[in-house]
This record gives sequence, C-alpha cells and structure tokens, in this order.
Amino acid sequence: LLRSVVLGVGSYLPAKTLTNDDLAKIVDTSDEWIFQRTGIKERHIAAEGETTSMLGEKAARAALANAGLTPDDIDLIIVGTSTPDWTFPSTATQIQAALGVAHGVAFDLQAVCSGFVFALSTADKFLRSGSHKRALVIGAETFSRILNWEDRTTCVLFGDGAGAMVLEARPSSGALSERGVLTTHLRSDGRHRTKLYVDGGPSATQTVGHLRMSGQEVFKFAVGKVTDVVVDAFAATGLSAAELDWFVPHQANRRIIDMSAQKLGIAPEKIVATVHLHGNTSAASIPLALSVAAADGRIKQGDLVMLEAVGGGFTWGSALIRW
Ligand code: ACO
Repeated sequence: LLRSVVLGVGSYLPAKTLTNDDLAKIVDTSDEWIFQRTGIKERHIAAEGETTSMLGEKAARAALANAGLTPDDIDLIIVGTSTPDWTFPSTATQIQAALGVAHGVAFDLQAVCSGFVFALSTADKFLRSGSHKRALVIGAETFSRILNWEDRTTCVLFGDGAGAMVLEARPSSGALSERGVLTTHLRSDGRHRTKLYVDGGPSATQTVGHLRMSGQEVFKFAVGKVTDVVVDAFAATGLSAAELDWFVPHQANRRIIDMSAQKLGIAPEKIVATVHLHGNTSAASIPLALSVAAADGRIKQGDLVMLEAVGGGFTWGSALIRW
C-alpha cells in the first residue's frame, strides 16, 4: 500500500500589489464595498511579460527547497491553471523545461478554481499506483489577463500568484494517523457553464476573452452544494469536523469561507484565510494559503488538514491530508 506524503510547499506572488483604494481610481467602487462583501483588501498583479509559467516555476522552486529536494527528484508535474501562457504547449511543460527537467511527465489540468484540488487528486492516484515516485503539484494563475478592467463586478475579486506542493509515494499501513493524502473527492456539473465562464477561446471565438460571472448564483452554489464533498471525505474516513486541525478552502470570498465552515461545524479558529491579502487567485489560492500557514508554524507535521474548492463548470472537490 502506498500513500502520497506532503514533503513541502511553496509559493510566489508578483511584486506589485493593488489595494482596494487603487481599484477605486480605476472603477466606481470603494474599499468599504469590496471588503464588506468579500473580505479582500489587496491582491498581487503580474508585471508586463510575467507569465503564469514564470510564477509557477518560482513557486515550484520554493516548494522543492522546502522539501529539501532538487528538480531532478521529480518525475510528475501537474499544473492546475485556466490562464496558460499559450493555448499550447502546456504551462506544465514550460515549467518542466524552466526547472531543467527532461525526464518524467508534465501536463496541465483545467478545473478553474478547483484546479489545485483536481491536480492533487490526480497526482495522488499516479503516486499510489506506483507509476511515479515524486510529484510537483502546482496552481498558477494570471487572472488579471482575463479580467475586464472596466467591469467593477468582477475585476475587484481576483489576483495573480502561484503555489506548489511536493508529494512522495511512501509505503503505508493504511492507518489514518500516518502521514499523507487520506482521501480526495471530485465533482463536476457542466450545466452551470454560463454562471461563471470566459467569453473567449481558441475554438469558439479565436480570442482570449474576459471572465463573466453571475456573482449571486456562484455564491449560492458555493455555500449550498460544495460542502457535500467535505461530508464525503468525513464519510470515507470516519473522521469528523472536531478532529480537523485546519480547514483550507479556496479563497474566493470570506463570507463563503465562513458560511461553509459554519455549515460543516468547523470552528472559526481552524480556518486558514489569505483572501484579504491575495484576492481570488483561482487554482493558486489553496497552495498559497497552505504555504503561508506552513511557514508561520500553524500547519505542523501530523495535523489533519481539509482542502475544499469550487470553480467554473461547476467543478468542486475536497482533499483530506495528514500533514
Ligand atoms: N463596487 C461597488 N458596487 C458594486 C461593485 C463594486 N465593485 N460590484 C457591484 N456593485 C453594485 C452592483 O452594481 C449592485 O448595485 P445595484 O444594487 O445598484 O444594482 C450592488 O453593488 C449589489 O450587487 P450584487 O451583485 O447584488 O452584490 P452581492 O452582494 O451579490 O455581492 C459578490 C457581489 C461579492 C460578487 C458576491 O455575489 C459574491 O461574492 N459572489 C461569489 C462570487 C465569487 O466569489 N466568485 C469567485 C469566482 S468563483 C470561485 O472562485 C468559486
């Protein structure tokens, strides 16, 4: 029996920050409106020419350093992104080349804001099968490039960044007290496409397009439905909210995070939230939050950590990890 054990996490944020007050100079909005409804205070924005793969490479190097490994040790790279550098080749192969890795396999996985949880679940299945030994799972995004900067209902919500995790396949007895990914649960329902989408793409329009969203519909779905996958994780393991040490959900909106935790019976002090500093960085938000909480000493070896995300599609998923 093999289990995917977390060896390290790391992240990277572009240097430039954009505060709510900065945004109020671009569109008709205010710090008060944005903060009250979303909890966001500021977000990072990639510099001109700074691409998703560049952010992802830096996050990957930070995670490798945290794990005490080098790029050569990695034989599987999965990148969750909806803002690839190019239509093809994949951002994962660009990062693979930038890391100087020429062995193994690298590919992208697109599940929008659920991208990291989907990529983690996929890597876990590769590692547990014995086909690969060590994985880099990366969430990297430059959503600033697909925002309509004249639309105040969307441009205030998102930011750029990248986070990464290193996992290794290790023998396991199967005990829940042993380190590693304990269970993952993924869902999707494509009937919700028009509630959260980009109005461009290579095949449909031959443009890149802009993000469009029915905010209230997404909010309702996120709080109403998404918690199911966390309940599934508890059912699969026999563990409960009381046994969790940390809840690290996708960082879209503080109200969604708090309402989800309350619904699941997770105590407020177990929530890791970085949305005030990063905004919604889509697939990067969970590994960014994990990096912050691991670096400041909150998440420690042996802790029980629940990840949860929802994104366009809709897609949604959970991952329960013994850190
Ligand atoms: N500044 C000031 N006013 C604004 C802004 C803004 N940035 N944006 C919208 N408004 C106005 C609207 O025009 C509207 O004005 P009106 O009443 O005169 O028509 C008013 O504020 C209220 O708008 P609503 O859309 O009803 O505001 P709501 O309370 O629903 O909050 C929000 C909007 C924050 C987007 C909320 O619906 C939300 O958080 N939804 C979840 C969306 C989300 O997190 N998506 C992330 C991507 S998906 C994911 O990551 C899973």
